[in-house]
Amino acid sequence: DAASRSGVKETRDIAQKLEQANKQLVIFWGSQSGTAEGFANRLARECHLRFGLEVMAADLSDYNSKTIALIPQEKLAIFIISTFGEGDPSDNTTGLWEWINKSDASMPLLRYVAFGLGNGNYKYYNKVIDVVDAAFQRFGAQRLMDVGRADDAEGASEEDFLAWKEDLFTLFRTKLDYVERVVSYEPTLSVVEDESLEPIDLHHGEPVQKLDNSKTAATCSPVTALPIKQSYELFADSKRNCLHMELDLSSHPELHYKTGDHLAIWPSSPDSEVDRLLQALGLTDRANVPLSIKTLDSTINLRVPTPTTFAALFRYYLEICAPVSRDTVTSLAIFAPTQACKTLLQNLGKDRDSYADFLARTHITLGRLLQAAIASEPSASWQHLPFAWVIETLSPIQPRYYSISSSSIVAPRNPTITAVVSDISLPADPTTNIPGLATNYLLAHHQATSFTLSTPSDYNLDGPESALEGRKLFAHIRKSKFRLPALALQPIIMVAAGTGLAPFRGFLQERARLKQMGKNVGRMLLFFGCRNANEDYIYKDELAELQAVLSEELRIITAFSRQSDKKIYVQDRVQEESVELGALLTASDANLFICGSASMAREVGQRVIAVIKKRKAWSEEDVKAWAEVRKRSSKWQEDIWS
Ligand code: 2AM
Repeated sequence: DAASRSGVKETRDIAQKLEQANKQLVIFWGSQSGTAEGFANRLARECHLRFGLEVMAADLSDYNSKTIALIPQEKLAIFIISTFGEGDPSDNTTGLWEWINKSDASMPLLRYVAFGLGNGNYKYYNKVIDVVDAAFQRFGAQRLMDVGRADDAEGASEEDFLAWKEDLFTLFRTKLDYVERVVSYEPTLSVVEDESLEPIDLHHGEPVQKLDNSKTAATCSPVTALPIKQSYELFADSKRNCLHMELDLSSHPELHYKTGDHLAIWPSSPDSEVDRLLQALGLTDRANVPLSIKTLDSTINLRVPTPTTFAALFRYYLEICAPVSRDTVTSLAIFAPTQACKTLLQNLGKDRDSYADFLARTHITLGRLLQAAIASEPSASWQHLPFAWVIETLSPIQPRYYSISSSSIVAPRNPTITAVVSDISLPADPTTNIPGLATNYLLAHHQATSFTLSTPSDYNLDGPESALEGRKLFAHIRKSKFRLPALALQPIIMVAAGTGLAPFRGFLQERARLKQMGKNVGRMLLFFGCRNANEDYIYKDELAELQAVLSEELRIITAFSRQSDKKIYVQDRVQEESVELGALLTASDANLFICGSASMAREVGQRVIAVIKKRKAWSEEDVKAWAEVRKRSSKWQEDIWS
């Protein structure tokens, strides 16, 4: 950043960069939602603290992949790379991915270790790190230990990372002769309170990630404050609210979306948690004092804006509602204000299983941990906890993605989203709810917009604009591959449960419009599952209207799970409809789309495979190969969440 401001072009040659910055170790990260990036940054800090190594974390897309081969032999490269969806690399890994797939490089100098993040519920678990590793092996690079893997399916990524990190440090000590030292903490940032700084417009402060750079420009629009045109509840019961929210792009001619794209919402933290953390840190009185934040190492990217304030950091930029990792508990113990507090934290962070148990009971946030750790000592306080540590420890807030539920040809300036506001109950205590951050933020906006607010909001939504001018959400549009076939005649099968219906509302709107314009439209099956026809059958009336327009083309097949004694799910309907479904998928070459929870998609996929296997009298192998080809050619697409 500093370099680009001063006009010096940053090098894209990693070997040169390591030389210039005098670093012996580089930790590359390939990250979509920030977890791999967070691991890389933490690992960089810890390698420096424990071994005195000069380390830098590096965004894979900041460097030319071919220069990885130039990293001198005495240095070390670590790759921390995530896999998502159908074995896809993150946006910032695409460059490396394409390069290794077409390149025949030679890397005799490179020494590396690798760690992958993935989800065992997906078929291509950790595929990206495996492909990268295999390529480096082919290129003659030297891997110094087995590839580590984190499995998010069990919520174990964090612990898998910690275990792998200890193996890595064993390698450092035993094979690389890196000498361990006893340094407990060194800040990587300076945080200075400075009343003289210009007051900043916090509400319109930029979200933490500027997405208008070249890396993401191909897939993401810039983050923009978008007015909410209207919002209403599709249904509400004691536990859930389902929101339909329509945004307005009319004052942003540069923004466009396509049917099937995602809208990313940048949430803010609720006041209760902001206040708790300010109070725990003794910062309540100084919450709005301007701060200047600087990195103490030029290779570190500052992940928060500056100048800012304590309150703005907690409200807009840092993920303060997330549960605290065991590593954080152990690292906090260093700063414990009393011996009793130190012992408490050390014991709490000691054991993997008991900490998992503790989290399942408490889902403890940093604010609550700080309070709890000194609760029995009235005179103790956390005022000496370095604020740099707080910024380093909390993850930058991440956007939450929603499938756009409108068609871009029907409503080009007014994308809609469909979101269930749900609180997750604690695994070990179902009576305690953990509010979902983004969805509750949306609900607060909805209630403020529609003046239905009965209880005081827990969100600070007041911006400079008045309520009459409308409320705004920070959002960006992300391109997706979940697309209607270009040919309107192409038959499609859509399977959704709950708000998985969202993109299909857009698909159906679009095809209904095409038909009204006189085009011939292909056959469509929509499988939709919810609890009860009278409870959570979202867009029921709209679907009936679309059905009337598409009377010959569309069949809607519902599955209600809580309407009778027997639970009926979409996958059961898929099986029942084997004749038409099988014919469409084989003879008519229909596209298959599945949207909803990962477990639903998996079960639907299994039934589809069973239908085709039987129909074709194929072996298990044949039908698997068929499914593979469908997926690879985008004839079978999923938009799913865990
Ligand atoms: P349930 O909650 O009654 O079990 C939307 O959430 C709908 O998806 C609900 O009807 C829900 O049923 C259903 N659902 C939950 N898990 C599912 C799964 N694994 N496969 C298909 N549908 C599922």
